[in-house]
Amino acid sequence: MNCLLRYPLLLLAYWIAAGVHGSRILCLSVGVHRSQLLVHLAVARVLLQRGHQLTLVTSQPLERDWLTANVTHLLLPWQLPREQVIEPHANFLTRLQWTLERLEKSGELLDQPEWREFMEHTPSTPYDLLLLGYHFNDHLLGVAAHFNCPVAIITTQQPIGFVHSLMGNPEERWYVPQPYDSRQRTGLEGYIFGLWEKLSELLARRVMQRIYSTHFPSPQYPSFEEMRRRVILALNNHHMVSEGPIGPLLPNMLDIGGIVMEQMERKELNLPRRPFIVFSLGTRFSWLTMPGKVEKAFVDAFAQLRDYDIYWTYDGANASTIHLANSHVHLEDWWPQAQLLAHPLARLFITHGGKGSLSEALYYGVPMLGLPLLGDQRPNLRKMQNKGWGLSLDIHNVSQAELLCSIKRLLNEKQFRESIRRSSLLYRDRPLNASDLAAYWLEYVIRHKGAPHLSGNARHLNFWQRHLLDVRLAVYGPLGMLGWLALWLNRKLNCNR
Ligand SMILES: *[C@@H]1O[C@H](CO)[C@@H](O)[C@H](O)[C@H]1NC(C)=O
Ligand SMILES: *[C@@H]1O[C@H](CO)[C@@H](O)[C@H](O)[C@H]1NC(C)=O
Ligand SMILES: *[C@@H]1O[C@H](CO)[C@@H](O)[C@H](O)[C@H]1NC(C)=O
Ligand SMILES: *[C@@H]1O[C@H](CO)[C@@H](O)[C@H](O)[C@H]1NC(C)=O
Repeated sequence: MNCLLRYPLLLLAYWIAAGVHGSRILCLSVGVHRSQLLVHLAVARVLLQRGHQLTLVTSQPLERDWLTANVTHLLLPWQLPREQVIEPHANFLTRLQWTLERLEKSGELLDQPEWREFMEHTPSTPYDLLLLGYHFNDHLLGVAAHFNCPVAIITTQQPIGFVHSLMGNPEERWYVPQPYDSRQRTGLEGYIFGLWEKLSELLARRVMQRIYSTHFPSPQYPSFEEMRRRVILALNNHHMVSEGPIGPLLPNMLDIGGIVMEQMERKELNLPRRPFIVFSLGTRFSWLTMPGKVEKAFVDAFAQLRDYDIYWTYDGANASTIHLANSHVHLEDWWPQAQLLAHPLARLFITHGGKGSLSEALYYGVPMLGLPLLGDQRPNLRKMQNKGWGLSLDIHNVSQAELLCSIKRLLNEKQFRESIRRSSLLYRDRPLNASDLAAYWLEYVIRHKGAPHLSGNARHLNFWQRHLLDVRLAVYGPLGMLGWLALWLNRKLNCNR
């Protein structure tokens, strides 16, 4: 009797555990920059720690330690053509055109032989979840259609308009500025900026829809719009409560800002016991492209800072010359940036202001000197400066005196450090840390077979209905007409009197 009872119970226990723990998850991180890949990999690492089986598709090679028992890796050596260096003065129509042309090419991924083989030879319905690194690639939702599994997306910054319309969040631009808007427009200006953005979004979505229909044709596959509605969670590498701006979000928007630091691997570092400065301008920047006078300004400024060690990520030609003349300046192609910032003797971070670097400085509470180069870095650094976490300079015309003056202020004036320390406490104060939050909700979706109940009603409305345009027109249209008629009659009667 005892025995008979025990078996079904064991089976049941196994079944419950298997329902969540041994899940098979496909993680797609293609055509993205290294800093974006790091966010996707941090989420993947959390899932591995929970005992899931991962299939990782990336367009960049992974480090060796990724190739463990529960990971299947597919390398698709494919990248979008490099972004054109957009002249700052190109008008916005030209920029939009460039962006759309570039987007047009993203369908090429789906023609790669490695990719086709993967799609054709993987047996149907093997995955419990698709985790998509979301980066203007809605057409890849076809992969979830192919494997008939639920989808969660990972975004690498404060959610932008694309994400809001995908998930069905209300977009109230008149008080929620966008991450890439360096002027942080609100009010009427923000509203109009939002309309322009919606238009670009619509055009981009048409391109992605075209790519989708080519590779995932109906009736074999659900429609593009249907697949967009099936995205059930968005994990955003941001923390709204401490980083702002506060805006209206649905409950399936999850803030996982900080997850990269939580999942960071700690290697042994051999650091001298002196305060130090970390200097890195990101993976997309090369010192070989910089005029010698900029480099010289930095070297000359650092020469005056002998009380500090300086860890400089440098790929230029003069590393040994610089180090010979300044033994406290240590130059390498790559320094473990997060790990340096985590060290209690880190005093200052000189950065380009990429989202990943800013999060690291915030997490560890290190003040910054910002040198924006492109994209969202300028607005990121402007916000950073407004919060009192540091200062910014223009790298193209920076002088040795100006650099030294800013660095000394940042090292000597307490307010910068205090202010970023306070924010760091807020950033970390949460009911669940980012890793546990991501694990909980991703497993929730698997447990509840895609959890379709998480989806908001707004996603089932069309554009007119969602923006209440039909109702507004029906109510305010006649009202306006009546008002106009009253004015007209009034004028007529006055004239005739
Ligand atoms: C691989 O996954 C299984 C469960 O699916 C788990 O028991 C095992 O510990 C995992 N192995 C590693 C190295 O994580
Ligand atoms: C997240 O929080 C849990 C509970 O406090 C803790 O056990 C875990 O180590 C934390 N994870 C990370 C990566 O910090
Ligand atoms: C670095 O090297 C380049 C070429 O070798 C040279 O033109 C430049 O002046 C050097 N800069 C410094 C700061 O030494
Ligand atoms: C550098 O250029 C910016 C504008 O591009 C200007 O505001 C700033 O004053 C300039 N700094 C110096 C030192 O010339």
